[in-house]
Amino acid sequence: MTRKKMKRIAVLTTGGDCSGLNSVIRSVVISATELGIEVLGIRNASDGLLSDPYQYEVLSVKKFVNFPYERMGGTMLGTNSSSAGAAGSKNVDDKQKIKIFAKAVKALKIDGIVTVGGDGGTSIMAEYCTKAGVPMIAVPKTIDNDTPYTEQAVGFATAREICVEALDRLDTTAASHHRVMILEVMGRSAGHIALHTAIAGGADICLIPEVRYSYKGVIKKLESVRKAGGKHSLIVVAEGIKTEDGKPLVAQKGDGLRYAGAGDFLQERINSMTNAFVVRTTVLGHVQRGGTPYALDRLIATCFGAKAVQMLSEGKSYYMTTWQGNKVVPVPLDKVVKTSTSKVDIKGDFVKTALSLGMYIGDVKPVRC
Ligand code: F6P
Repeated sequence: MTRKKMKRIAVLTTGGDCSGLNSVIRSVVISATELGIEVLGIRNASDGLLSDPYQYEVLSVKKFVNFPYERMGGTMLGTNSSSAGAAGSKNVDDKQKIKIFAKAVKALKIDGIVTVGGDGGTSIMAEYCTKAGVPMIAVPKTIDNDTPYTEQAVGFATAREICVEALDRLDTTAASHHRVMILEVMGRSAGHIALHTAIAGGADICLIPEVRYSYKGVIKKLESVRKAGGKHSLIVVAEGIKTEDGKPLVAQKGDGLRYAGAGDFLQERINSMTNAFVVRTTVLGHVQRGGTPYALDRLIATCFGAKAVQMLSEGKSYYMTTWQGNKVVPVPLDKVVKTSTSKVDIKGDFVKTALSLGMYIGDVKPVRC
């Protein structure tokens, strides 16, 4: 049986934004146009197809010639952090949403969809697309870098760079004032951003959700830096760490539970145990998600976008593009959605390297490189 030629595909971004999303969109548009396929940019994730009227625009190559979207952070299409629900259809249940989505796909004559999302958004889009019977290729993005099977998700490289730059800046002020500086970074329940930042930025202590730590261990390390002649210290803390005895540091904020003040919490703990140090905390927050994407993110994003189009045009569907050993490797989506998020490998080389440098990362056995 001959396959129907793809005439029109859609691209959308779903979940939290990050740097590099516009490079995926640009790559999808240019490579699809090269193959004679038209691209619709769907606004605000699935919202664009769930709302009445539909929110989308035809994306032409000209759009990118006339404006350098790929040099900017954020997403030119907008996104929806809850991933599943259209603003205008909050009272509509999931079954109905899937029906509306399928109707939109048919009405707009969409032959395939490229979704750019994190784990939550990708699983939801996979369900929507499967039920609507429309081919889909997912592109992973998240500053947390916790998507399984891919060494890099779009957005991680830039976020990491921003965190390392922050640590560089904190270092000089910490040294001038002989202070302990705590930098709290994002990452949800994964410590990738924190650990990479701590190693690249020369921190003395790095606390990540994957490793149990103790307040005494932290103080001991700060004291040992002083004993060795150091007058200041840098600590990187992942937002997802728990208390010493394993209690989550979360608080009800607005629409749900959010990570709450890991950095401030640690500062308070240190202050309550000793007055030997002057401690200050910086919470980087959403700064990590904004601004110009670094080259690595643009590169990976562009490779992912082109591959996604190529796969759709070849009739392939329900795959996620992944980055493995400098190659784009497609992984079946059902494998991805069944696998839990990727955490820092406690036996991996980054942990070993941190330990070899004498960094305190918690109560792990001192395995060295
Ligand atoms: O998943 C990306 C991320 O930036 C996390 O690191 C962070 O915990 C969360 O999103 C913040 O979500 P929001 O933008 O909804 O506050």
